[in-house]
Amino acid sequence: MAQDEVLRVEGVSKVFGGLKALSNVSMSVKRGEVVGLIGPNGAGKSTLFEVISGNMRATAGRIVLFGDDVSTVSPDRRRRAGMSRTFQKVRLFESLTTQENIAIAAMQCARSNDDWRGEVQSVMERLKLTRLAQSYPAELTLADRKKIEIGRAIVGRCRLLLLDEALSGLTMDEADELVGVVLSLNTELGVTIVVVEHVLPVLVSMAQRLVVLNFGEVIADGAPREVASNEKVMTAYLGSKRGAFS
Ligand SMILES: Nc1ncnc2c1ncn2[C@@H]1O[C@H](COP(=O)(O)OP(=O)(O)OP(=O)(O)O)[C@@H](O)[C@H]1O
Ligand SMILES: [Mg+2]
Repeated sequence: MAQDEVLRVEGVSKVFGGLKALSNVSMSVKRGEVVGLIGPNGAGKSTLFEVISGNMRATAGRIVLFGDDVSTVSPDRRRRAGMSRTFQKVRLFESLTTQENIAIAAMQCARSNDDWRGEVQSVMERLKLTRLAQSYPAELTLADRKKIEIGRAIVGRCRLLLLDEALSGLTMDEADELVGVVLSLNTELGVTIVVVEHVLPVLVSMAQRLVVLNFGEVIADGAPREVASNEKVMTAYLGSKRGAFS
């Protein structure tokens, strides 16, 4: 494994009953990259995140994280190794405040001497959540709920962050702000990012590379502008109801 490779997905397949959701998927992510993962609805993007994070076991293939084969390692150990993810549908503790939601994640990842309380404060400042520290998720906008989820994901030495549709459902202003926050995690904290997003222009502005899944297979992997003009990719999207290339 190349020294600067933080993630390698090797020949991963995932079968649900008769459905092959992932078919021999291989991709690699280098330290410091922002990689966009795109593909029409049902292409297998969230399933790939499930397999990388360990919530689902691959039917075949290997996941190598920070140089170690973690294919049979628990999600919790992968998280402690520095890999975390957000969910397409935000998952928070509704009976806990913003601060408590982030604190619980920080506590779970903390080692004995870690200043996890300090980390919670600095993460809330970075995500502009401090004024909402005592609010409950139900009182907040989707954008702020998504920020809390990102806060929960980045505490505890996160080095690789997988974002599943971090921007969907947001207004353009909210999405712009969140893109800025996500990019600052990359440029200021050095977090490597893989982001699923349907709106291609946003990804072209964010990502250095795009990987395209279609029916569970990687059909393109390269610079955003090259991928956007790739014939296979355009054909895959023509049938998509989301019109990602518009
Ligand atoms: N737990 C599951 N059990 C059975 N089938 C599943 C399961 N999870 C996903 N699938 C199926 O696997 C395929 C890939 O789904 P997945 O959610 O990974 O796609 P996606 O690319 O994330 O799509 P979207 O853009 O709509 O979020 C779909 O056909 C889906 O119905
Ligand atoms: Mg999905």
